[in-house]
Amino acid sequence: MDASVNPLDALPDRWRPLAERSAELLRSHQDQGGAWPASPGFAPYQYCWFRDGSFIADGASAAGLYEEADRFHGWCARVLERERPAVERVVAMLEEGRQPADSDYLPARYDLDGTRHEDDWWNFQVDGYGTWLWALERHLTRVSIGDPTTYAAGIETAVRYLVATGTDTCRDWWEENRDQTHVATLAGVAAGIHAAMRMGTLPDVLVAQALALAERCVSLIRTEGVHDGHLVKWLGGTDVDASLLAVAALYDVLPLDDPLVTATVAAIELTLVDGGVHRYATDTFYGGGQWPILAVLLARHHTRTGNPDRAAELLDWVISTADSDLLLPEQVSPLLAPDVLDEWLDRWGPSAHPLLWSHGAFLASMSTH
Ligand code: BGC
Repeated sequence: MDASVNPLDALPDRWRPLAERSAELLRSHQDQGGAWPASPGFAPYQYCWFRDGSFIADGASAAGLYEEADRFHGWCARVLERERPAVERVVAMLEEGRQPADSDYLPARYDLDGTRHEDDWWNFQVDGYGTWLWALERHLTRVSIGDPTTYAAGIETAVRYLVATGTDTCRDWWEENRDQTHVATLAGVAAGIHAAMRMGTLPDVLVAQALALAERCVSLIRTEGVHDGHLVKWLGGTDVDASLLAVAALYDVLPLDDPLVTATVAAIELTLVDGGVHRYATDTFYGGGQWPILAVLLARHHTRTGNPDRAAELLDWVISTADSDLLLPEQVSPLLAPDVLDEWLDRWGPSAHPLLWSHGAFLASMSTH
């Protein structure tokens, strides 16, 4: 891609102010080492998640912020190089048939300087490591000078970790349900492995294991991740979750026109959409509002399946959630469980605002590749 072309210039007028504001926010809130806090100003989110960060970097790269995306990917690769001994320990324990403690696994989030933040967060969630590989490859294919060998050590560590843990139970995109195997997580793992294979830097010994893992993830999704013709939140479950929109529209793990995907999107539209998109029907986090990142994800599905009008409607809704300073929230009313809101307000104060993932997702939605 020609770095002198600003991808935001091609946007319709009504989307450009938020896109430009989003790009400015990603620039100004990136730590000098490359990390992005999930939300500047919201104390529990002053850390860099592999999941949020990778989606933010994807938006940055889609918007032409190539140096910022490079810096983030460099940060991830350095974190993974430092974590290599921890990954080797987890691999060895599992090979010896010993069950690691949750604190033995890689965490979901780090301090901005890339060190572990020692607390009792709900840390064991592996999707972020697959999502990083997915976002890295997308970035490298956007910038023609991108060279995966720079990241080879980090890519190898992430793949070794996923081969060891990728189909185990762990927490989901929402850091919940530790004892389930989540369909969106399996899709993130498979997408990361597919991306790693295409980047072509894996040592031969790892290639066969990686391929087998990706096939197993897809086969688990298709066999145990289905109920009543649609995908479900976790293997053996019955309910949908809006994170399932990522399976095809983002991760390309199932085809967009697969009947399972079509039925899943229909079920989500029917049960979780009310202007914006709720995470899942029984969500109580901050009362269970509607999340701009999920409206963007649904818009992406519709853009890619040839329904630009529905996509535009959803993106207009996202814009309507921005405040007068064009900051996007994590979530907004209407709430599914308004009675629970006060509990969260007492615990942490108002919910995250701005959420950088919301801004990154909005930027990513401006390009469909
Ligand atoms: C969300 C996660 C997210 C984290 C930081 C949590 O409330 O459920 O998906 O990674 O916040 O934004």
